[in-house]
Amino acid sequence: MSRRTDRLSASDKSALLQSLRANVRASEPAKTPKPVPTKTWDTSFESLPAFQVFKTQRAAADVLGISNPFYRQHDAKAGSESLIGNQHVLNFASYDYLGLNGHPEITKAVAETAAQWGTSVSASRITAGERRFHRELERAIADVYQAEDSVVFVSGHATAVTAIAALVGSKDLVIHDALIHNCVMVGTQLSGSARRVFPHNDLDVLESILENSRDSFERVLIVAEGLYSMDGDGPDLARLVEIKERWGAWLLVDEAHSIGVLGKTGKGIFEMQGVDPRRVDLWLGTLSKTLVSCGGYIAGNHSLVDYLKFAANGMVYSVGMPGPATVASLVALDIMKREPERVARLQANGKLFMDKARAAGLDVGSSWGYAVTPIIVGDTLRTVILADRLLKRGINAFPIIPPGVPEKSARLRFFISASHTPEQIETAVQATQEELSSLEAAGLAVGTANRLLKR
Ligand SMILES: Cc1ncc(COP(=O)(O)O)c(C=O)c1O
Repeated sequence: MSRRTDRLSASDKSALLQSLRANVRASEPAKTPKPVPTKTWDTSFESLPAFQVFKTQRAAADVLGISNPFYRQHDAKAGSESLIGNQHVLNFASYDYLGLNGHPEITKAVAETAAQWGTSVSASRITAGERRFHRELERAIADVYQAEDSVVFVSGHATAVTAIAALVGSKDLVIHDALIHNCVMVGTQLSGSARRVFPHNDLDVLESILENSRDSFERVLIVAEGLYSMDGDGPDLARLVEIKERWGAWLLVDEAHSIGVLGKTGKGIFEMQGVDPRRVDLWLGTLSKTLVSCGGYIAGNHSLVDYLKFAANGMVYSVGMPGPATVASLVALDIMKREPERVARLQANGKLFMDKARAAGLDVGSSWGYAVTPIIVGDTLRTVILADRLLKRGINAFPIIPPGVPEKSARLRFFISASHTPEQIETAVQATQEELSSLEAAGLAVGTANRLLKR
């Protein structure tokens, strides 16, 4: 056709369009009717198995008159004290270990940062670029571990998930302590690696796993915590390091509950046990506990940090830390370094709680008596009722029940902080001892509940 279409007459245009439409219709496959399903599917969320478990537990608690311990509303900043439903309580359920949450120097820096930088960095750092506060915090964290560098992520849990998934794969093995935090298990599952578990702090078993399996895998990652979040004890770091070096493995130590807590100046388990921190491949921590913000970090050598910045999906495809949250941790870390007396106070409080609890005949398990000490009750129902009764007496300690801990080891977990007073600690221990004795005398346990529910 030599003529341009904008010069077509109206009738030519209409004929052309009709012929184009006819061609399109001719090239479409003939529509076959969609099959009608012969069965129906339950698409309700209530049909999920875990929903049913949760519903049954709630119903049992209602029959027994136990208030719901989950998602309780606090109407004040939860430090050593809090306000729950108009009731003033002593609080042992928050992990503000050095009592820094709401510190005026931190809130001032946070307000100034929000005013200057806003409340979000509005995209991932790889695309939106760096802000100086990110690198300042990363350098300060690296300094703690004498590491070459560190990288911060927007969630502590996601830090472990994304780092582990980026580092190991189907030809590799992850070996971890039986009491490791959920984030390590999720990361391992996502990575597709094989997984082996050694009994809590049993490094002989760790060695025998390596003896039997090291050759079958390309890379091996050993994971432990500096201070275990449910039991309040930790590993023999020097031996862990010696084992990982001998067997050519990486060692990741999760310092979520040890930064600000262990060691003379709160640097963590390496400081407490006198181990060179450069011998640990990956130091992982969270910003949500001592560092009173939200997020997590990995510290290690340049190659590790560079690699994670490009290969960890939780870094590449997730937003960078907001300025105010980053600066909160930066200032908290600075205060931790400047005021080692806070660390000393926390350590004295932790020891006081453990000594008093032991003297009262309470089972503190293997706790080292720092920031976390459990009172192990065993029976799940008795634990939940104990927490409920303590709350009625103005003491907030959270009940931890299976699957959060192994069967028959339900417990109340007490987080101790530098801001608790010795009197608050003594009051809590005494009330726990009194209420637990009364529950034991009454024989209240899971069996009792089953009988009541059957009536
Ligand atoms: C040992 C351990 N690692 C990681 C995390 C996850 O940290 P976050 O709560 O900051 O996401 C927690 C949470 O309590 C923890 O206890």
